[in-house]
Amino acid sequence: MTPLAERYRERLPLTEATPVVTLGEGSTPLLRAQRLGERAGCELWLKWEGANPTGSFKDRGMTVAVSKALEEGARAVVCASTGNTAASAAAYAARAGLPCLILQPAGAVALGKVAQARALGARILAVRGGFDDALVAARELAARGTHVLVNSLNPYRLEGQKTAAFELLEELGGPPDVLALPYGGGGNTCAYATGFAEAGRGTPRLLAGEAAVRAETLATAIRIPEPVHRADAEAAVVDSGGAVVPLTDVEIVAAWLDLAREEGVFCEPSSAAGLAAVLKEPPRGERVVCVVTGHGLKDPEAVERHADTPVEVDPDADAIAEAAA
Ligand code: F0G
Repeated sequence: MTPLAERYRERLPLTEATPVVTLGEGSTPLLRAQRLGERAGCELWLKWEGANPTGSFKDRGMTVAVSKALEEGARAVVCASTGNTAASAAAYAARAGLPCLILQPAGAVALGKVAQARALGARILAVRGGFDDALVAARELAARGTHVLVNSLNPYRLEGQKTAAFELLEELGGPPDVLALPYGGGGNTCAYATGFAEAGRGTPRLLAGEAAVRAETLATAIRIPEPVHRADAEAAVVDSGGAVVPLTDVEIVAAWLDLAREEGVFCEPSSAAGLAAVLKEPPRGERVVCVVTGHGLKDPEAVERHADTPVEVDPDADAIAEAAA
């Protein structure tokens, strides 16, 4: 598969001198969601970003950010993260041969993401506080010059992430009517808006699904009380004629299980926020893309809480037939 740095090189801030750090990101599947589309009364598609190398859309931005950090002589990278940015930063830093420091909100990161970052050799510090506190600390550290910040405040991140809009335009032959996605810090919303604007073929209405109670949602990836890109993200949503859609945890969990059970796509709960927004106000008769941002294996505890547990049986056909009925 062609890495996005090659596929979209002319639209990215890469030069001959940039040492491209890649794990084969981008070019993710665009899947038709027949059953859920019928239920919502629209032509529904899923952009399956969990198929990226570390299991989330963050890899699209991280390949560019870490490549540029290397080109510019970085000695280390740092990020604050609810887990996916951390896993991605850890992987690309390892590949680049750079140390990676992760600041994560203590006790609020899903198990699979912590496992990834640990295995990849990052230094992980659990900050007493929420994501916003960790981000302030990461910015302060980066300002000292010891580490390059690879959060979405690093403009190279959003440059890489905008390539998902280019893929959609190629695959659908034009923009969809509606693009729905989770809204955490708002970086990805800005990235899609930029991608569609740069391509100049029209922008879909953006539906940004956020947790109604941001500080407490079970969707830990988007547990972000103060979105750092709020002004730009919400301006992009308004300009597109779309909406920010607040979602309860019950709505997010329902959409998450629907994706798994109706369409066979196992994502983490936060990743279903775009679909939850669509199911809440279905755009009937329209062509809709839901961005499904991260893999379900990231958050095994969510499965533990919301899905049936395996039943133990003897290796006996009668007992099994009875238990399976
Ligand atoms: N979906 C997933 C799976 C995420 O991990 C995130 C953000 C979002 C959606 C929201 O994207 O912030 O650009 O609006 N995760 C960040 C992290 C905060 O640290 O991994 P956004």
